[in-house]
Amino acid sequence: MIKKITNNITKYGYFETLKKIIFYPYNFYLYKKKRNFLNLKNAKDRFTEIYKTNYWNNEESVSGPGSTIEITENLRSKLPIVLKKYNINTILDAPCGDFNWMKLFLADNKLTKYIGGDIVPEIIKKNNQLYKNNAVTFVELDIIKESLPECDLMICRDCLIHFSYKDISNFLKNFCNSPIKYLLVTNFRFKNNSHSSNRDIITGDHRVIDLMAKPFNFPSPLFSIKEKDEQNLGSVHMELFDKSQLSSIKN
Ligand SMILES: C[S@@+](CC[C@H](N)C(=O)[O-])C[C@H]1O[C@@H](n2cnc3c(N)ncnc32)[C@H](O)[C@@H]1O
Repeated sequence: MIKKITNNITKYGYFETLKKIIFYPYNFYLYKKKRNFLNLKNAKDRFTEIYKTNYWNNEESVSGPGSTIEITENLRSKLPIVLKKYNINTILDAPCGDFNWMKLFLADNKLTKYIGGDIVPEIIKKNNQLYKNNAVTFVELDIIKESLPECDLMICRDCLIHFSYKDISNFLKNFCNSPIKYLLVTNFRFKNNSHSSNRDIITGDHRVIDLMAKPFNFPSPLFSIKEKDEQNLGSVHMELFDKSQLSSIKN
């Protein structure tokens, strides 16, 4: 506590630190109030509330700061390598969020079929109104428990970071029972000796996870695309796995 206050004084000065101490109870109350949606009874209601209130607080995308055009620049430029190398013509992108960066990617890279899936009905309705065409469609889908449609690849970006351990495990079982061969999924590789280790949360909340560490113990990926790390918590990657690699670790 003392160390925290000293650090604050060094960083912000005496006056700002004093203000922070005085207003701490009020700011804590506001923080708790903002997170009231976590008391909603199911994941669909929680993510719908996140969508309706723009909880992730980004002007460009309701899917949050990780979904902007700028932050996805490297991903968009490297994704064609994966598609070519693994002969991928059809993609399930779930969750698709508001399709903010993917719309740019698909404008330059034509697929036989793209299905965007998300648990929030309003997102799906809007995406279909704006972007649906012969090759592109959007469906309401809960990736934890609903059947996943046939595709060569599933992209699951910035999603497991919002799931409890139990829901991550159920999603992995669901994926392994699906007809989809490859999974491209967000992973934070924690730095050696860093303070970070995996922890459980309520679905709808947020923390970063390292899929190679306990309790997930994923094997080495087939392919990896480094992303920009907007939170500076470790290096962020989209990692590619074959279903056969994951079947043996699901629990
Ligand atoms: C941070 S956004 C990421 C969206 C997208 N992958 C991207 O890169 O822009 C997370 C999304 O996951 C969706 N979501 C949460 N739980 C889900 C579930 N069980 N099934 C499908 N979508 C889910 C949310 O509604 C939200 O749109």
